[in-house]
Amino acid sequence: MNTASLRETARAMVVPGKGILAMDESTPTCGKRLEAVGVENTEENRIAYRSLLLGTPGLGDYISGAILYDETLRQQSTEGVSFPQLLQQQGIMPGIKVDTGAKELALHAGEKVTEGLDGLRERLEEYRGFGARFCKWRAVITIGEFKPSIACLQANAHALARYAALCQEAGLVPIIEPEVLINGAHTIETSYDVTVETQRRVFDQLYRQDVDFAGMVLKPSMVISGTDCPQRAPVEEVAEQTLRCLQQTVPAAVPGIAFLSGGQGDEEATRHLNAMNLLARERALPWRLTFSFARALQNPALKIWQGDPANLDPARKALLARARLNALASSGEYNEALEQQVAA
Ligand code: 13P
Repeated sequence: MNTASLRETARAMVVPGKGILAMDESTPTCGKRLEAVGVENTEENRIAYRSLLLGTPGLGDYISGAILYDETLRQQSTEGVSFPQLLQQQGIMPGIKVDTGAKELALHAGEKVTEGLDGLRERLEEYRGFGARFCKWRAVITIGEFKPSIACLQANAHALARYAALCQEAGLVPIIEPEVLINGAHTIETSYDVTVETQRRVFDQLYRQDVDFAGMVLKPSMVISGTDCPQRAPVEEVAEQTLRCLQQTVPAAVPGIAFLSGGQGDEEATRHLNAMNLLARERALPWRLTFSFARALQNPALKIWQGDPANLDPARKALLARARLNALASSGEYNEALEQQVAA
């Protein structure tokens, strides 16, 4: 393992003024997104959509890395350029989702454990050959009655650590994504408690597997009220509780934290990120705080595109605008006036 180069890649992923574009939807999930705007889930349409995203001129000004799904790494864009090559042209590092999905956890109805460790060492070698520099593995934690169970927290933390160790051995930076789901009526206090417990266990397992904290990126969910909570906490509270949680759980050696959007509205996710970075200015926080959004970056572009080539330019403009606003939020420089300009 070349520790220095791993650490350099990890720092480059969270470089000031940029974030990570998550576009690693599995084929069924990509299908859900496409079908929501009336586009059939064919290979051709997935290529067209992903070509729209990655062919956006100037995307590399705000995006350090893009997380791809397995098929995308092997395909050519509509312009006939391989996707890894297209990324290289944009100055964006290619990353790859390597888990094989969250499956039902045995004996624990309604909870999931993420799979994909079998054969992972060999797959990582192949991905490196395609130019991948970093990987992603997502664990899913559900809040509900008697949930999450210790079994669920522990199984997912252990799998994340095994994955991370394999990535670092292969010279790839692991993105560690423990997502505490926003679904439910829980309060922000419950979200805080569950997220602290989840992240403590994740870092304990990473430590036990000898993972280098300086050669990884954490991709957590924000501490936030559940979508059905009758009284949802305001932006400042989300920022405050999320930072408090990170300070209780994340080692200072971790170079950066790139949040997922997790079903928040596009603007909502940006406002939260900005509020955290405003608070971070007043506190000597050891890590960079940026974004690794999928839906909160892609949604506006997808809605405009609707599979029609005539909408390509406005869709790309919308993606670039969202990327720029989030890049500003990652330095605490976003504001409502900028949002209005984009909407106009
Ligand atoms: P969202 O930002 O849509 O939550 O997606 C992030 C992601 O990578 C999910 O694994």
